[in-house]
Amino acid sequence: MTPIRYDEASRVFLLDTVSTSYAFAATGDGRQVRHIHWGPRVDLESAAAMALSTDAPHAVERITWGGEDPLEYTPWGGQRYDEPSLKVDFADGTRGIEWQVTGHRIERDEGDEGRTTLVLTLEDLAYPLTVDLCYRVFDDSDVIERWARLSNSGSDDPIVVRQALSANLWMPIERSWRLRYLQGGWGSEDQITETVLRPGRFVLESRRGTTSHEASPWFALDPCGEATEEHGAVYSGSLAWSGSWKIVLETTPGGRVHACAGLNDFDAPLLLAPGTELVLPVLAVLYSGAGHGGASRAWHAYQLGHVLSHAARTGGSPSFPARSGPARPEHARRASLVTRPEPGAGEEAVLPPLRPVLYNSWEATGFSVTEAGQTRLAELAAEMGVELFVVDDGWFTGRRDDHAALGDWVVDPTKFPNGLAPLAARVKDLGMGFGLWVEPEMVNPDSDLYRAHPDWTLHFANRSRTERRNQLVLNLARDDVAGWVFATLDRLLTEHEIDFVKWDMNRHLSEPGWPAETGHNPERVWLDYTRNLYAVLDGLRAAHPDVDIESCSGGGGRIDLGMLSRTEQVWTSDNTDALDRIAIQEGFSQAWPAQAMMAWVTDSPNPLTRRRLPLSFRFHVAMAGSLGIGGDLAEWSHEERTEARDLVALYKKIRPTVQHGRLYRLASTRQGPLGAVEYLGPGGYDVVVIAFSGPRPLRPWPSRIRLAGLDEAATYRDCDSGAETSGAVLTHLGLELPTALDATSMLVRLERL
Ligand code: DGJ
Repeated sequence: MTPIRYDEASRVFLLDTVSTSYAFAATGDGRQVRHIHWGPRVDLESAAAMALSTDAPHAVERITWGGEDPLEYTPWGGQRYDEPSLKVDFADGTRGIEWQVTGHRIERDEGDEGRTTLVLTLEDLAYPLTVDLCYRVFDDSDVIERWARLSNSGSDDPIVVRQALSANLWMPIERSWRLRYLQGGWGSEDQITETVLRPGRFVLESRRGTTSHEASPWFALDPCGEATEEHGAVYSGSLAWSGSWKIVLETTPGGRVHACAGLNDFDAPLLLAPGTELVLPVLAVLYSGAGHGGASRAWHAYQLGHVLSHAARTGGSPSFPARSGPARPEHARRASLVTRPEPGAGEEAVLPPLRPVLYNSWEATGFSVTEAGQTRLAELAAEMGVELFVVDDGWFTGRRDDHAALGDWVVDPTKFPNGLAPLAARVKDLGMGFGLWVEPEMVNPDSDLYRAHPDWTLHFANRSRTERRNQLVLNLARDDVAGWVFATLDRLLTEHEIDFVKWDMNRHLSEPGWPAETGHNPERVWLDYTRNLYAVLDGLRAAHPDVDIESCSGGGGRIDLGMLSRTEQVWTSDNTDALDRIAIQEGFSQAWPAQAMMAWVTDSPNPLTRRRLPLSFRFHVAMAGSLGIGGDLAEWSHEERTEARDLVALYKKIRPTVQHGRLYRLASTRQGPLGAVEYLGPGGYDVVVIAFSGPRPLRPWPSRIRLAGLDEAATYRDCDSGAETSGAVLTHLGLELPTALDATSMLVRLERL
């Protein structure tokens, strides 16, 4: 049966995912589109019955008076006082929208992603404004992608768009709602935070021109605060946008939550010129009946199956706008075909290739990068089994510290007398890929680029240009600047044997001026900066399909679906202290998959926190994601390097399970002394359990940890000791834990017999 159906009689649209349904209906006069249901599966008959009840005149009277008419996309106009999805001004001074449904189409894409898209068109009754509401479902996921497309079909006047969100959501009536979100700062990203929503409005946002460290464009709501890790209803959303964004959660007097998300409207009216359209970013939404753990697993599977590198491989999704260029045939070949049992049992999913074990020199050398020093580190890294060697900041002319040279992307001849070629060749001889750090959106005032083009930075006339880390932001919204960034990186990738780029961004936007646009629409800098960033990334991916990209922004400052659809992995945080990482990683795992989570093992004491932790503990925590090493290997003892080599070899064994498997968060250091994660590999045969003590095990330490997702009737063998245990024992009694000391950790591998 087709996953999106329309019932003419009731005017109901019913979207079915693997285990959920989403329904809405046009009113009899076609003037409104009203939300009906989002949650467990319902049939068309039930959805039609719900539609009739909400379309009854008395029902509308009651809900509109209370300000909670659950519209699918709320046009500002009439008696509406809640957060609008869309607010526009027309040239004759009319503000407010009155529209009507004028058609819909359902498109089936039988390609390897198995997706179906509904486009519902609404047209203003008097002005040339057309809005397409777009919905996409996948054959193997509970995620629904939603976005909207605005068009000015007139020929004379622009339409001023004051607010345009991607989508509107309505939670069902409940006694109360709890919100979970991820907040933090530099070095403390992704801290899980919960609050019960009180009457009023709660806004999560970034006005920084980028995703930010301070909050992630992701949320999860659960009714009455009753969801646990593995049980209960969770309604979640994730916005595919790397510029300023906002998520608004309004609690209505009737006990519903109205959630909407999209571009931040702060300082950002947009002129929609005649004959043009604006495609808004995707808001991906997910209902799970299996608690926060079930929601996370569904997010991970969706990203592995449809976001990470896949969007690029299939030529892009219109729902991640600004993608251009041809498909990535090389990636298609490298992708692995794996059977993923949940959701959509037995379905074959094409998953992204496994990530290589990486070495990065930043914490070892800082800016003191030299050919000899990097070569030595590369040799030591290769001995440990590292597969990708990355030279970080400091390799280009004039870059002695963070005061100069950003913008001058030429190899420093004093550090690399014969260019990068000898180092790259040595790295490849050692059997590793070669990676390079760049920060292309930035410029130091002390650089040739700034001296030549001071007007290329964001700035206002007669106002200071605020420096952060001694740098200014290039106005990427300008096509000439974006063109220069593309050409510079294209040349770098063409002239050097580079397999991997770490794309950094070490400050947020300020003084977002664009003097040349004065009198037009300078505020569109907020939108066009990110659109051009995406265009540059998409262009580079098309031109260099073999080059992988890591999104970094002073750690985890730019992690969102928009970046994940254009990169292979993200740098999680500049804080590499393994104890701090436990909390950061638990937050990260709510929304993003382990495969994308770059986690380095660094020195002890940690350069940032000065904390000392055992090497095995540092490894075990990092092995819960995509493993990297970032310590000063030249300072590690022979014993440490040998232990590290063995742990890298162990990681390679568990890598398919960690990177492609299903994650169960068995225990959280937010709630007790023990943290533990389990990964169940594709097909359910391989199991990896990583357990660690949290910051200070003051409370009693459990002697066992119960596993999840196992076949109780099956027998599991410990890959190291050979001991055999039944699935029932592991599920109900649990796996034995070591006695807890400070910084205790354990990694167990099991295989189902
Ligand atoms: C911030 C990044 O997060 C670090 O890993 C490192 O690349 C520095 N920038 C280099 O300046």
